[in-house]
Amino acid sequence: MKIFLVGYMGCGKSTKAKQLAHRLDYPVIDLDVEIVNKSGKTIAEFFEAFGEKGFRDYESEMLKTYNYPENCVVATGGGLPCFFDNMEWMNEHGETIYLEMEPAQLVSRLHNRQKRPLIKDLDDNQLLEFISMKLEERNPFYRKSKIIINAFDLDAEKLEEAIKKAQS
Ligand code: S3P
Repeated sequence: MKIFLVGYMGCGKSTKAKQLAHRLDYPVIDLDVEIVNKSGKTIAEFFEAFGEKGFRDYESEMLKTYNYPENCVVATGGGLPCFFDNMEWMNEHGETIYLEMEPAQLVSRLHNRQKRPLIKDLDDNQLLEFISMKLEERNPFYRKSKIIINAFDLDAEKLEEAIKKAQS
């Protein structure tokens, strides 16, 4: 089973993916890390060199051409589900889980903004406004996930239970 974790920056996709993978004894794949490894650029450098459009093309290509093992947990970049048919592709190829979180909770978790080009220059108030606006735009995509779960106070055990429940 392939499990794709989706959601906004700061909702904990990478950490939860690692914990869930550990619990299930599956390998974990972080697509942002794969992009950095393959391109030889940090995400910030990638945006700088090729712009957002270049990044969206590259991450979508990475999603669809990665050589996934049969069983794995995949952490996706926050914007990935909202471009092209990426959300549909993930739904066809595995379980999709939206780690949902309130804008204010996301702001409180997004301390290290420098490596995230879309929010690097925003203070807390601007970020709250920006995320609220972005979530309105992105939620219709994220909410196509097969499982939607409140990501605040979430642990790998609850995540595994939600997957089992969805499959029964
Ligand atoms: C982005 C989220 C980032 C990264 C890039 C763009 C977005 O991933 O892919 O900075 O558009 O929300 P994380 O959600 O892992 O931070």
